[in-house]
Amino acid sequence: MQGIQLQNVTKEYANSQGQKVCALKAVNLSIRPGEFVGIAGKNGSGKTTLARLLNGLLLPSDGRVIVNGMDTRQRRYIKEIRRQVAMVFQNPDNQLVSPVIEEEIAFGPENLDLTEEEIERRVDEVLQIVGLSELRHLSPHMLSGGQKQRVAIAAVLAMRPAYLVLDEPTSMLDQTGRRGILDYLRKLNRRQGITIILISHNMEDLAGADRIILLQEGSIVYDAPPWEAFNRENKIKPPNIVRLAQMLRKSGYLLDEKITTLEQMENSICRLLKSTT
Ligand SMILES: Nc1ncnc2c1ncn2[C@@H]1O[C@H](COP(=O)(O)OP(=O)(O)OP(=O)(O)O)[C@@H](O)[C@H]1O
Ligand SMILES: [Mg+2]
Repeated sequence: MQGIQLQNVTKEYANSQGQKVCALKAVNLSIRPGEFVGIAGKNGSGKTTLARLLNGLLLPSDGRVIVNGMDTRQRRYIKEIRRQVAMVFQNPDNQLVSPVIEEEIAFGPENLDLTEEEIERRVDEVLQIVGLSELRHLSPHMLSGGQKQRVAIAAVLAMRPAYLVLDEPTSMLDQTGRRGILDYLRKLNRRQGITIILISHNMEDLAGADRIILLQEGSIVYDAPPWEAFNRENKIKPPNIVRLAQMLRKSGYLLDEKITTLEQMENSICRLLKSTT
């Protein structure tokens, strides 16, 4: 079966006093290929634990995680699971190890027994996808935070993963860097069909997702499309564009109820103006 399934997954850690801390409690979740899934929740709600279970960096204390039919507890699958489920973390500085951008990107494919030509082709391709072809000979350290994060994303894309899991990838970035990363993620999802699992505290980041999953104390308490989550779930603070739509609707403007992004707001206002002229 394609996709990722969490079946009754519980994850416990031992704290510094040796007591058990339950980070995830009997979680059931199914992620379909091609989806863009947003994961939200307060500090300590279990988001990072969930992310690390998806590619076997962590194994469940109970229950099963299945990636394209492969159980993460079976050691013989772990290499293939890690290739299919790529991870990008918060701080790009911790992920970049090579002195030159193109070397950084070639690093993963070089461990996949590919020919030189194929590696070269992949490096060219992903540099183009993240818009960094011109800068390929520079050191990653000369880049802005947003550009560094794009190098980190390119480096994992070169492995051709089916799933990209990002744990708060924009939290160290300024507004421009953040928007850039989100645009790339949306493009990757739509054009290349890569499944995206994006963890963020920022609801604007998750506004373009297919669904938002809200974690609370290790359990999924909500799983719905963003427009529904933002308008109906009071534990989620809606992005400004949704609040503006709510205010305009209260004032009598018949705006589309599914608005969560600037683009959708623009379309809805244009439709409204056309229908009144
Ligand atoms: N290695 C560990 N050892 C012990 N307890 C841990 C460990 N990692 C996480 N925890 C605990 O598990 C719970 C969930 O942590 P997790 O990091 O998954 O939450 P999170 O939602 O990612 O939080 P944040 O928003 O701060 O990143 C917390 O109570 C945390 O203290
Ligand atoms: Mg975390």
